[in-house]
Amino acid sequence: MSTLSIENISMRFDLPNGSHVQALQNVSLELKTGELMSVLGPSGCGKTTLLNILAGFLAPTEGQITLNDHLVTGPDAERGMVFQQGALFEWMSVRENVSFGPRMKGQREAQYAGNVDHLLDVVGLKDFKEKAVYELSGGMQQRVALARCLANDPDVILMDEPLGALDALTREKMQGLVLKLWKETGKTIVLITHSVEEALLLGERLLVMAPRPGRIHKEYRLPFAEMGVGQDLREVKKHPEFGAKREEILSMIWDMEEEIMGRTEEAEA
Ligand SMILES: Nc1ncnc2c1ncn2[C@@H]1O[C@H](COP(=O)(O)OP(=O)(O)O)[C@@H](O)[C@H]1O
Ligand SMILES: [Mg+2]
Repeated sequence: MSTLSIENISMRFDLPNGSHVQALQNVSLELKTGELMSVLGPSGCGKTTLLNILAGFLAPTEGQITLNDHLVTGPDAERGMVFQQGALFEWMSVRENVSFGPRMKGQREAQYAGNVDHLLDVVGLKDFKEKAVYELSGGMQQRVALARCLANDPDVILMDEPLGALDALTREKMQGLVLKLWKETGKTIVLITHSVEEALLLGERLLVMAPRPGRIHKEYRLPFAEMGVGQDLREVKKHPEFGAKREEILSMIWDMEEEIMGRTEEAEA
């Protein structure tokens, strides 16, 4: 069984004025193939930094990442990233966007066309494949981004607030789609979100991070993602345990934010 292993990662940014930010401190974590983990925490707690390190965009100042026992030293198609928005190629059609990875690998159309059609079908965009990206709504663009990521057949999918820019209804539909893709593809997924509800729905593991220095505060193992695979997400949210966990995590994050505010006021006084 393969794993994504985060081994004692620290990340320190040195600033031009001589001070520094400890964006992450001693973060360790192991994800098994097919696990779905959501990451939650106040702004500035290092979520994006952690994801960028997993993607190989940033090298940590300490510690290492391994995937299936090899060291992560830079970006690679084995780790796909889905950004919040705007990361599609605007001048290409939907089909060209989704087939971008296979084409870059030198595959010919006959090799990738079937899979690209299949993925467009899975994300509900079969009838839009010749459309230009700018003709699509925000929700449809994010579905293209998901399909484009899957076309590379990555082992791990990294998502940084992928649904954050969508309206509530579209967001709910996309949450269902993420769960469906997770179950159907068996991919390992790490998803950052600002929304406590989304983190509960889309995390069989939920990581709460704390800021200054960025670190793991608490981890939960939750039944809701599994429930949501075969059930309307609104029904899952009605589950008493869902409400209890939402309240618990909301107050945890409120406490952290109040503490940050307090410290900022002290520093300004
Ligand atoms: N390139 C950088 N240079 C300096 N500081 C950075 C850089 N990237 C992030 N930081 C700082 O590191 C901390 C964590 O940032 P980030 O990972 O973006 O947090 P989050 O995604 O949880 O909001 C913040 O204090 C941020 O200002
Ligand atoms: Mg961020």
